[in-house]
Amino acid sequence: MGSASQVFSAKGLSKVYGEGETAVHALRGVDLEVAPGEFIVLLGASGSGKSTLLNILGGLDIPSGGELHFADHRLSGASEAELTRYRREHVGFVFQFYNLIPSLTVRENIALVTDIASHPMPVDEAISMVGLLPRADHFPAQLSGGEQQRVAIARAIVKRPELLLCDEPTGALDYQTGKLVLEVIAGVNQQLGTTAIVITHNAAIAAMADRVIYLGDGLIQRIERNARKLKPSELSW
Ligand SMILES: Nc1ncnc2c1ncn2[C@@H]1O[C@H](COP(=O)(O)OP(=O)(O)OP(=O)(O)O)[C@@H](O)[C@H]1O
Ligand SMILES: [Mg+2]
Repeated sequence: MGSASQVFSAKGLSKVYGEGETAVHALRGVDLEVAPGEFIVLLGASGSGKSTLLNILGGLDIPSGGELHFADHRLSGASEAELTRYRREHVGFVFQFYNLIPSLTVRENIALVTDIASHPMPVDEAISMVGLLPRADHFPAQLSGGEQQRVAIARAIVKRPELLLCDEPTGALDYQTGKLVLEVIAGVNQQLGTTAIVITHNAAIAAMADRVIYLGDGLIQRIERNARKLKPSELSW
């Protein structure tokens, strides 16, 4: 049963890649509830199943077993067409690499998304949220890595998704630039109420989350709640 008061409700989620002797058990029974507007940081060793879990939550991959609901939609067992619609309407993704289209300006990269979204915000509002209005007519190659990542965030949020799913968004960035990108993600979470799940290898980032989920060997090892979340500017590593 899905509980509509939760954004996500996962029960016994498993994922097996391959078959027989070469099968990899990437998730081995994950139970998880995520509340609307939560900011979650997902930590764990390489290969622990973080990306697998995020991709299943985001409808990019399907679980091998278990139940998954987004609000009152059942995602486990959904068809490819249903998952495509789910991603388009509800999910913004940010990855380590920005995947911007080099021949399009900042504004044009973001406008591509609003063409297919049902209730997007004005393109310049999204650009303004990531602090890049003065660079709106620049091409990706004219921007720093951190600025390109902020464009990728604007592209993810312009359709007003309920979910912002980020897989190592600061993985390719230096310290200061990484913090700026985290500020933007935290700002989206706070100002738009977007539920955010962020994968990182940097344990210091955990201090900005409402809850920190530690994944190990395809299972949730523990979940911690921060009594007080830190602002990204208060983090140090
Ligand atoms: N498409 C795939 N085919 C086969 N095995 C896969 C596939 N994707 C992931 N795996 C395996 O599943 C396990 C979990 O991978 P996952 O990418 O979720 O780990 P991760 O925690 O995100 O690691 P990292 O921190 O290195 O990104 C790993 O053993 C990985 O090799
Ligand atoms: Mg990963």
